[in-house]
Amino acid sequence: MSTDSTRKTVLVALGVCLVCSVLVSSAAVGLKGIQDKNRELDKLKNILSAGNISMENADIRRLFHEKIESDLIDLKSGIIISKDKYTDLLNPETFDIKTMAKNPKYYRTLNAGHDIAQIKQIPKNMVVYWVKEQGNIEKIILPIYGKGLWSTMYGFIALDKDLTTVKGFTFYEHGETPGLGGEVDNPGWKKSWVGKKIFNETGKLKIEVIKDKVDPTDTNSMYQVDGLSGATITTRGVNALVRFWLSENGYGPFIERLKSGEMQ
Ligand SMILES: Cc1cc2nc3c(=O)[nH]c(=O)nc-3n(C[C@H](O)[C@H](O)[C@H](O)COP(=O)(O)O)c2cc1C
Repeated sequence: MSTDSTRKTVLVALGVCLVCSVLVSSAAVGLKGIQDKNRELDKLKNILSAGNISMENADIRRLFHEKIESDLIDLKSGIIISKDKYTDLLNPETFDIKTMAKNPKYYRTLNAGHDIAQIKQIPKNMVVYWVKEQGNIEKIILPIYGKGLWSTMYGFIALDKDLTTVKGFTFYEHGETPGLGGEVDNPGWKKSWVGKKIFNETGKLKIEVIKDKVDPTDTNSMYQVDGLSGATITTRGVNALVRFWLSENGYGPFIERLKSGEMQ
């Protein structure tokens, strides 16, 4: 066979493809463990960040365990699940929203009228995180998620112990466009949530992400967050998912129990 025959060229090309695909797939499989660990670490960082806990030079896992406590709740009743009922899946350490929302044993289907966050199935349980100081609850961090334009956005909202004032807001996973919907990661925008009020004095859900800029002279400005410019659909998604999770279909029953002092 001549060295520049078509057959030889094809064989060499196939050989190179084979070697490359083996290398790429081994790297993907080999790195999966590290990627999962990094993803988990990133989630812990986002919980700490939502809780406004300084992470400077900190060992993230240690800081998390020092500052944060978690519980599993039943969303419908708002009741905290007792630790002796924990299983491999139903456990704050291993709880995974995506896994739960796919397992018919652990989700319930939302009827279309209630599904403003466009998630279709909602886990029956969720993990809630407490920031405690000297044994007292200072903040509570609630996982939230819902559809943006291109993706389902996953994040956290932290509330003060008054259960109305926002203390932190962050997304740890989304696929919105950088510079447009991706501005949900803009530190200035995330900070603009801090101090906003979720409910009015009568307990009515008032928080909203509006289309434009908040007018600080508006009497409702304490309940309003700026929309993201050039990203109307992502903005609507954030508004819908926040309002969904803080309503009676999300954490409402749990928040009511906390307000009545049942869990102090
Ligand atoms: C490449 C591309 C990426 C876009 N990414 C987003 C996005 O992440 N979020 C969003 O709401 N709109 C995004 N848009 C814009 C929407 O398609 C739509 O035009 C926009 O929501 C209108 O918002 P505005 O009224 O604020 O300009 C994108 C548009 C293009 C062409």
